[in-house]
Amino acid sequence: MVQLKTPAEIELMDEANRIVHRVLDGIERLVAPGITTRELDRFAEAEIRKAGAIPAFLNYRGYPATLCTSVNDVIIHGIPGDVALAAGDIVGVDCGVVFNGYYGDAARTFAVGRPSEPAARLLAVTRESLLLAVGKLVPGGRLSDVGAAVQRHVEEHGFSVVREFVGHGIGTSLHEDPQVPNYGQPGRGPRLREGLVVAVEPMVNAGGPEVSMDRDGWTARTRDGSLSAHFEFSIAVTAEGPRVLGLEVAA
Ligand code: MF3
Ligand code: CO
Repeated sequence: MVQLKTPAEIELMDEANRIVHRVLDGIERLVAPGITTRELDRFAEAEIRKAGAIPAFLNYRGYPATLCTSVNDVIIHGIPGDVALAAGDIVGVDCGVVFNGYYGDAARTFAVGRPSEPAARLLAVTRESLLLAVGKLVPGGRLSDVGAAVQRHVEEHGFSVVREFVGHGIGTSLHEDPQVPNYGQPGRGPRLREGLVVAVEPMVNAGGPEVSMDRDGWTARTRDGSLSAHFEFSIAVTAEGPRVLGLEVAA
């Protein structure tokens, strides 16, 4: 069942997502050759607790860290560890918090040092696909318009959309209805209504869309070893149009 949020609840979710984006801004400054993903994770946990919030992913279904850090061919859910980032890597950083009972969830993919031309294109196209999706989150629109916009933009640029993982409703739980796929036909499914809040999170592979799971049960990689990027916003459908939570504008 879809839980629509009141304007007051949306303000609380904006606060939670503000903490998430502050953490991601800090991570962006830290990302450089030599830093380990475990160091990024420690920074994130400290910042979240300093803000009076709780890391949302830590212990979620047994997940062992605050962040997901997904390097190169890792699509999502990479577990922070002791391997140092190197120049030319890309790293997806996904962060979730609970603040005053409401969840915030967002992700960005960063280049470590100067990205290769194909890596830079992959990051740009994935981020653009998320911004196009945001534009579809208007009252009266259709849920499937979101995924259709992502898929169209990604495939136009010769990349592929991961099917195994989807975006989700978010609120007093990390994952609520509805599921939000990053692919599909436009004009289908339920009408979008004021008060719907969803986390949209395109996962885009430079090669084929197939996924392979590591034996840790979390790390999802591209089967062909190609690079993968991930961006995520929590977004509210409001009478004034889409509102990206935790950001002043969809920067
Ligand atoms: N943004 C991801 C999601 O919404 C991150 C979840 S990581 C987990 O599913 F560990 F909490 F599962
Ligand atoms: Co999410």
